Amino acid sequence: MREEVLAGLRAPRKALSPKFFYDARGAALFERITTLEAYYPTRSELAILEARVGEIAALAGPAVALIEYGSGAGQKVRLLLDALDAPVAYVPIDISGEQLERVAASLRDDYPQVDIHPYRADYTRPLELPRFPMARRRVAFFPGSTIGNFEPTAAAGFLRRVRRSVEDNGAMIIGVDRRKDPAVLERAYNDEAGVTAAFNLNLLTRLNRELGATFDLAQFRHQAVFNDEASRIEMHLESLTDQVVTVAGVAISFRAGETIWTESSYKYDLPRLEQLATDAGFRIDQLWTDPDQRFWVGFLAAAPADH
Ligand code: AVI
Repeated sequence: MREEVLAGLRAPRKALSPKFFYDARGAALFERITTLEAYYPTRSELAILEARVGEIAALAGPAVALIEYGSGAGQKVRLLLDALDAPVAYVPIDISGEQLERVAASLRDDYPQVDIHPYRADYTRPLELPRFPMARRRVAFFPGSTIGNFEPTAAAGFLRRVRRSVEDNGAMIIGVDRRKDPAVLERAYNDEAGVTAAFNLNLLTRLNRELGATFDLAQFRHQAVFNDEASRIEMHLESLTDQVVTVAGVAISFRAGETIWTESSYKYDLPRLEQLATDAGFRIDQLWTDPDQRFWVGFLAAAPADH
């Protein structure tokens, strides 16, 4: 973390990876974001999953091994586990070991017939997935539009790795936030209660605690704007003054108005999503949307491997 943070803050365009948001407080703030009226993605995705889970289960077929990339609080998967025909195994992958064990224990109680196999890892890196001889196919589950937090080349690389992991008869269920009216998007990342601002600024609190940094939170401001050309919400922390902050013993200077870019959240239209899926070796079998057409849940099947 130290090396990555320093490299990000020493770059001419200061930036930090959004993965650093998720310490215990950051994870709790994110859970609060998902309940906000302004933050529609979670609600929209849940509405689609609830309405379409029967169709999703039919496309997945019987006896699957379900692999979730970034399982978090493990709520959405219950919908799938309830609907799937005799799922053999569930592999929740997450970086947070404590949450992973808690979620696994509760799922084991509720789904005794499913082999719950938690895997603690950074899922953006190559993984060795366990084999389940009784499973007919592997189905990856990647909800929440987390794909939007990947830069386009990283998103393509990640999807290709998932495609290799699920093999030639596998599939992927993915949640994707759609490109839409910028006012709706900007409101979702600038909620009135200031929860997203607290989530963004918590990154500085984390650096103060874990890297002995000296950020004064009153001297930084949350910013979230839609970059139309790149089709992404950008979150930044803007320095309100000229100032010098020490991070892990290194002095970092800020000009007034200079920002640390903390997150991109890409919003997909159909051509971009199709491109992403086909480049990775998937075919979009089905895309479902919500009544407001804000979000997609897609069922992607592995296309015959010619790559
Ligand atoms: C986790 N991820 C999909 C969220 C998003 O919308 O990009 C993270 C988030 N950032 C601000 N609000 C929510």
